Amino acid sequence: LENGLGRTPPMGWSSWNAEGVNITEQEIRHAADALVATGLRDAGYIYVNLDDGWAGWERDANGDLTVDEASFPSGIRSLADYIHSKGLKFGIYSSAGPKACSGRLGSLLHEDQDARWFADHGVDFLKYDSCDDGKSGLGVKERFVRMRDALAKLSRPIYFAMGYWNEDTACAAGPVGNSWRTFFDIYSDVNRVFLTADKNNEYAACQGPHFGWNDADALQIGRLSVKPGGDPDLEAERTQMTLWSIMKSPLIIGYDPSQMGSKRLAILKNREVIAINQDPLGKQATKRFNSSDWDVWAGPLTGGRVVVALVNRNRDAVQQILVDWRTVGLESDARMTARDVWRGANLPGTHATNMGPFPVAPHGTVLLILSPVQSPWSSFWTWEPFG
Ligand code: DGJ
Repeated sequence: LENGLGRTPPMGWSSWNAEGVNITEQEIRHAADALVATGLRDAGYIYVNLDDGWAGWERDANGDLTVDEASFPSGIRSLADYIHSKGLKFGIYSSAGPKACSGRLGSLLHEDQDARWFADHGVDFLKYDSCDDGKSGLGVKERFVRMRDALAKLSRPIYFAMGYWNEDTACAAGPVGNSWRTFFDIYSDVNRVFLTADKNNEYAACQGPHFGWNDADALQIGRLSVKPGGDPDLEAERTQMTLWSIMKSPLIIGYDPSQMGSKRLAILKNREVIAINQDPLGKQATKRFNSSDWDVWAGPLTGGRVVVALVNRNRDAVQQILVDWRTVGLESDARMTARDVWRGANLPGTHATNMGPFPVAPHGTVLLILSPVQSPWSSFWTWEPFG
């Protein structure tokens, strides 16, 4: 969607995974404070997104949206003001149906009125879900187009994040929203993370800075474990951060930043990984090879660089994974330097044809950036004296 927003994937926090529909204004304020205190805001996570659970059950006498007053006694405007006072942006939730998934109010057939309400209440980001009762007879795309057009009439820019439509969303969604979910809900299970990445990978051909982003749902960092409820699995969390970054998915934190601890914050705040996600080329990396236990993903970055992720899906055994130029899309005669991003170290020398094998920990990832070797002549050939 060309509305001037979302030239790179959005970054922030959402209430859904941690709080579900029992969200309160204190929890949103707490999340805003925690984004600041942990340095996550300064690392780029600027959206504080209030998901389903805030709206009332019936509209008021003017047909306006109402708010759950028990959970949001100070109202939405004061919450937005608080978030803005922290240098953050405020996201809210509605659905392209008469009711949200929770049964609270949705916006279908009230799009103009609700869009104005969002603007009046300081909203910067709208997550627009796909729950609907089907009674309007409108097709799914039309239900989203109605809100896109309502937002376009506002003087306030509002990022338009769309929910999951159906199996063939992405190419149709680009002209409608800034991003769109490519699969059902994620949860804190490693295999769900892998499945979600695979689904998101199917839509790689339809995304980009002047189109929009394939949204693989929230980051499970903070609660991702080998088994649901089991021991923490930091390798898997690093793998999710890697895959979401290279796929140019929105980076939306799903759990309480104040509970993360330093290791998890280091995963979320890694500057080089964030820079891959925010690379202006905006091209989604894709899965280039998979065996039963491991995958190789790769994609282009600005400056002729290539990002490569070696992903071990096995929960017990280290895998030895080789990088070969054909798999990652390099010409056979390319000479590259390499950086191991999570280790924060350049690999010695220059590389041709292939590299490795790299040992990859169970559920872990080796993330590499390959950069073309600059020949002494290259600056001469690219020098543009009349440019
Ligand atoms: C379905 C969405 O996919 C979730 O992310 C969340 O917004 C819930 N609906 C809210 O009811």
